Amino acid sequence: MDNLNLNSRRTLNNGIKIPVIGIGTYRVEDGEPVINEIKCALEAGYRLIDTAAAYKNEEGVGRAIVESGIPREKLFITTKLEDIDEGYESTLRAIDVSLAKLGLSYVDLYLIHWPTASANHKISINKREETWKAMEEICKSGKAKAIGVANYAIAHLKEMKEYAHILPVMDQVEFHPFLYQKDLLEYCKENGIVLQAHSPLASGNVSRSELITDIAKKYHKNNAQVLIRWSLQHGAFPIPKSIHKERIEENIHVFDFGLSEEDMKKLDGLNANLHFRSNPENLE
Ligand SMILES: NC(=O)c1ccc[n+]([C@@H]2O[C@H](COP(=O)([O-])OP(=O)(O)OC[C@H]3O[C@@H](n4cnc5c(N)ncnc54)[C@H](OP(=O)(O)O)[C@@H]3O)[C@@H](O)[C@H]2O)c1
Repeated sequence: MDNLNLNSRRTLNNGIKIPVIGIGTYRVEDGEPVINEIKCALEAGYRLIDTAAAYKNEEGVGRAIVESGIPREKLFITTKLEDIDEGYESTLRAIDVSLAKLGLSYVDLYLIHWPTASANHKISINKREETWKAMEEICKSGKAKAIGVANYAIAHLKEMKEYAHILPVMDQVEFHPFLYQKDLLEYCKENGIVLQAHSPLASGNVSRSELITDIAKKYHKNNAQVLIRWSLQHGAFPIPKSIHKERIEENIHVFDFGLSEEDMKKLDGLNANLHFRSNPENLE
């Protein structure tokens, strides 16, 4: 991950380029809160925005994009299919609803939010194959430049090989030192899938370990910056969320230092298979 900077992009397996860092919008209210967050992030230099139908803030994200005055083609916008909309026809309808709310004619990336069509993540309803078929049509229609998945475990990705004609460009999963998903990361790398790190700040638990604080002091950085840098150096692209200007700005000041191999290993050692979000591994 040498020579990375704020403007660095990586090429997805379909040729589309994606920024290596982005801003998350989970649990940010629609209207002023999300508009302020996104405008602040765009001013700071973020170009990737991660939203979802389930976050109920796509309209505000769309307004912030317009108000920013930044040309559409300079931005990378991701939204996600809500669990309850999984299924062939409903997926085709859902993208149109999201695009209308965002006020866009296309998104750069459309993700299946969760491997089960149940809103209860402990109950598995498998509509993955028919949903993916609709996702492929959405991609071919140009309504999404790229398609992918979120919260897919290795088993779900392997299963896709049996039915997918277009392979997912991305798996967006929970990824931070307390949940260092090494096998999944390796699987994604071997199969040309980008792993994007959601909850890269361990959902705000940046001070859960003294080790992170000690390493941060050593590099004259803060704990959040260490966690974000750890993701980047693993080739897992982080999308930290903050509604505070200062944090939004500091969370992308991560390109002027590098964690040593030794410190990376120490942070890897924090892994406790700790999910702050639901664990998708046991879903059939
Ligand atoms: N695909 C999925 O199922 C899925 C699941 C979860 C998340 N995501 C995406 O990933 C994004 C990030 O995940 P997340 O929002 O769950 O968690 P996160 O980014 O790991 O952590 C966000 C929390 O950290 C705090 N924070 C931000 N910057 C900080 C800093 N510099 N120092 C200390 N605390 C800081 C934020 O508080 P303030 O806002 O008050 O600053 C917020 O409470 C989401 O917003 C969403 O876009 C996707």
